[in-house]
Amino acid sequence: MLPYERRDGVLHAGRVSLVEVADRVGTPVYVYDRGHIESRYHALEQALAPLEADICYAVKANGNLAVLDCLARLGAGFDIVSGGELQRVISAGGDPGRVVFSGVGKRADEIDFALKTGIRCFNVESEPELERLAARARLLGRQAPVSVRVNPDVDPQTHPYITTGLKTSKFGVSPEQALRMYRRAAADPHLHVTGIDCHIGSQIGSPAPLLEALEGLLQLTDRLAADGIAVAHIDLGGGMGVNYRPFATDVADFDVDAYGSAIRQALTGRDLRLLLEPGRYLVANAGVLLTRVEYLKPAAAAESLSFAVLDAAMNDLIRPALYQAWHDVVPVAPPAPGSATARWQLVGPVCESGDFIGHDRDLALAEGDLLAVMSAGAYGMAQSSNYNSRGRAAEVMVEQDGFRVVRRRETVRDQLALELPEDGDVAFGPMRPDRSS
Ligand code: LLP
Repeated sequence: MLPYERRDGVLHAGRVSLVEVADRVGTPVYVYDRGHIESRYHALEQALAPLEADICYAVKANGNLAVLDCLARLGAGFDIVSGGELQRVISAGGDPGRVVFSGVGKRADEIDFALKTGIRCFNVESEPELERLAARARLLGRQAPVSVRVNPDVDPQTHPYITTGLKTSKFGVSPEQALRMYRRAAADPHLHVTGIDCHIGSQIGSPAPLLEALEGLLQLTDRLAADGIAVAHIDLGGGMGVNYRPFATDVADFDVDAYGSAIRQALTGRDLRLLLEPGRYLVANAGVLLTRVEYLKPAAAAESLSFAVLDAAMNDLIRPALYQAWHDVVPVAPPAPGSATARWQLVGPVCESGDFIGHDRDLALAEGDLLAVMSAGAYGMAQSSNYNSRGRAAEVMVEQDGFRVVRRRETVRDQLALELPEDGDVAFGPMRPDRSS
């Protein structure tokens, strides 16, 4: 169920009209519905019950502090991949003791920061990383909690760029390497073996590949037990997909209930705490990107196409350009009576032909129309950039019957601040302030 519904033809999040949000905050703007994030979290919790799993939200999906605050209050832990994400969790009031740290390239300073804040565990992705972790822990007089990220060589049947658990991928280590690393860790007083983990990919349609990976991890756990090495938790990563065509089709989302009951069955009789690292499942359908039509360029000749140039571009939402991802695009208010539907290429102002939000969309459009790009809550704002010196969009959280801006729109001053001398001023027109007077 989407949190966005029409009232008198106008798209609303609860009682909040998206026309009002766009009028007050401007476009492009990301809008998130807090209630939806809460209900997805509860649905996942229920699917796993009576297991008391730790749901460690993958911050990379959407690291806005208001989103993190919402999840922290629900009792979530967090999966991070950088020191910056750890700082975000702390700034949002999250508990570092519930943080797991994934990623293939952890720097020494990031490891130190995580050790000092006392995170729950490091998901170690290589033998040299384990060596570095041991050295940093020794230097700081601490003990580092360790889980080894295993690459179970399972195909998650998703886009190649978000496939992470195949032999050919840069992530994790083979089961043989993992065994060596566990033996090494168990013998080091500055390392403490706590878990085992994997993450095989993202936007996965069914539980089957994830359960295959779970089997592989359990076999490895048994081999470790035979060596006298016990792990306390098993972390299956994220990957649960969502339906990106909620208006066009009634394709079901990833079946969390089936996933939950299969995990429960597989873990029966084992003293293993379950961790998951969902990102998209919790936030994708909570978000929309609101954008206005700047110009219409109807096809000028028989072979040419009709373009609707929006004020949102690939720098705001790169998923269509990067993964050929589909996002439903719908008008926020009903079209003017009598307006004709045509087939449009929905593109942005960025100077690349790959800059599109959607191809071949049948819509009745007029200049100034407000559109909602659906399912944009995950990997939308998080992957945005300043390409073409465009300021990043604003972000809004809808909660109870109102909304608030949870990140203001970026200004030119924000962008130039890192490049100008500290006392430099920014003005449209001459970029260098005239210092002669
Ligand atoms: N854990 C780890 C170690 C990850 O690398 C990821 C995502 C997750 C958890 C969360 O996965 P999720 O539950 O969201 O599928 N930018 C792409 C997705 C990249 C996913 C990267 N890793 C997209 O827009 O589709």
